[in-house]
Amino acid sequence: MTRAQRDRHGPGSSPRSYAVSVVTAAGSERATLENLMQLYLHDFSEFDSSDVDEAGRYRYRYLPLYWSEPGRWPFLVRADGNIAGFALVRHADGRYQMAEFFVLRRYRRRGVGEEAARQVFARFPGPWLVEELAANTTAIKFWRSVIGRFAGGFDEVQGPGGPQQLFESPMAV
Ligand SMILES: CC(C)(COP(=O)(O)OP(=O)(O)OC[C@H]1O[C@@H](n2cnc3c(N)ncnc32)[C@H](O)[C@@H]1OP(=O)(O)O)[C@@H](O)C(=O)NCCC(=O)NCCS
Repeated sequence: MTRAQRDRHGPGSSPRSYAVSVVTAAGSERATLENLMQLYLHDFSEFDSSDVDEAGRYRYRYLPLYWSEPGRWPFLVRADGNIAGFALVRHADGRYQMAEFFVLRRYRRRGVGEEAARQVFARFPGPWLVEELAANTTAIKFWRSVIGRFAGGFDEVQGPGGPQQLFESPMAV
């Protein structure tokens, strides 16, 4: 979208489309991921009723492993160069898994999540699993439509916490 097109939306309004990029988060960006994780876990507390600790912070003990353990990959999502979210991918039980995925509220419902997810899937050709909590109905709608459009279809099974979509990310030709 050009600046002119954007300006037509009027002052203070949001553009409809962004240049989305998914970039590996370096170890030096771990604090950035930790901050975004707080926003994500706050959103999630609506579904899992988690509490903050005495410092007012949510705990997510797996995050350091994304820079120390093989089979885990941390990504920052940017929209027009600005931080717009993150994705955490892991490989377990023979499949890539979207362990966590988050788009900041200001960027939601503008295709940022879909474009970021497509870029992440394309990086890891092979079998994938994505799982949502049953109560997170927005995420269920999001993943069903994004995966359906990306992979052309998926199998869905019931996981311990909610639906799981199983699909194949094709090799690039
Ligand atoms: C779920 C989430 C990642 C969606 O990101 P987003 O950038 O807003 O999604 P997009 O704009 O790319 O939406 C793509 C499609 O998903 C579906 N979708 C997304 N948000 C939706 C909503 N609130 N209600 C219904 N459908 C929705 C639509 O089909 C949409 O396509 P459309 O706009 O052409 O109708 C974002 O809401 C989020 O970060 N939520 C909190 C964290 C979370 O739940 N993460 C998922 C963990 S499993």
